[in-house]
Amino acid sequence: MEIRIRQATGDDLEGIVDSNIALARESEAKVLRRATVLAGVRAGLKDPKRSTYFVAEIGEEVVGQTMVTTEWSDWRNGWFWWIQSVYVDRAHRDRGVFRALYRHIRSLARSRGDVRGLRLYVEKDNGPAISTYVHLGMKASGHVLYEEDWPDRADRPHRQVHR
Ligand SMILES: CC(C)(COP(=O)(O)OP(=O)(O)OC[C@H]1O[C@@H](n2cnc3c(N)ncnc32)[C@H](O)[C@@H]1OP(=O)(O)O)[C@@H](O)C(=O)NCCC(=O)NCCS
Repeated sequence: MEIRIRQATGDDLEGIVDSNIALARESEAKVLRRATVLAGVRAGLKDPKRSTYFVAEIGEEVVGQTMVTTEWSDWRNGWFWWIQSVYVDRAHRDRGVFRALYRHIRSLARSRGDVRGLRLYVEKDNGPAISTYVHLGMKASGHVLYEEDWPDRADRPHRQVHR
């Protein structure tokens, strides 16, 4: 069973949206608004400054996905790549699909001189995902994530900022 990893294209839009909705439901018991996720994934697929998606395929079927975003680190004079929107179809879990996605992204990041490491955040009670990340060599960073979340603004149109 060969697992192939490729960068996602516009044709993957609907599948990525479905997986993000399933991911939120499964890992955080959250119901996402499809139109919002559709617009968000479409924007991410179009603009590499926003994000890059990778999908895993077995045969012709897409069975897993992740999104990579970047964060500039002034302390390290380089980038951290964030791994987000991690999802593997239930029927294909525990067969190394995420491991293949992770290794692919890690090797791309390592091949670039300006990437200082990989990061992700995970819901604190998501034991299976945490075990997976630890198996793959990641360590808890010691940071605690704080936020102000403004869900009521999710569907506001983006405004172009002219400088
Ligand atoms: C977490 C998730 C992405 C893992 O994907 P997967 O394809 O099943 O993982 P893999 O088969 O590639 O496993 C990778 C490693 O983690 C280990 N692992 C996987 N699931 C595990 C579990 N439940 N408990 C302990 N270890 C686990 C595997 O044994 C493997 O270790 P190895 O490389 O030493 O053999 C998948 O379970 C998933 O989509 N979960 C629902 C969505 C979710 O929670 N996403 C993460 C949000 S942050």
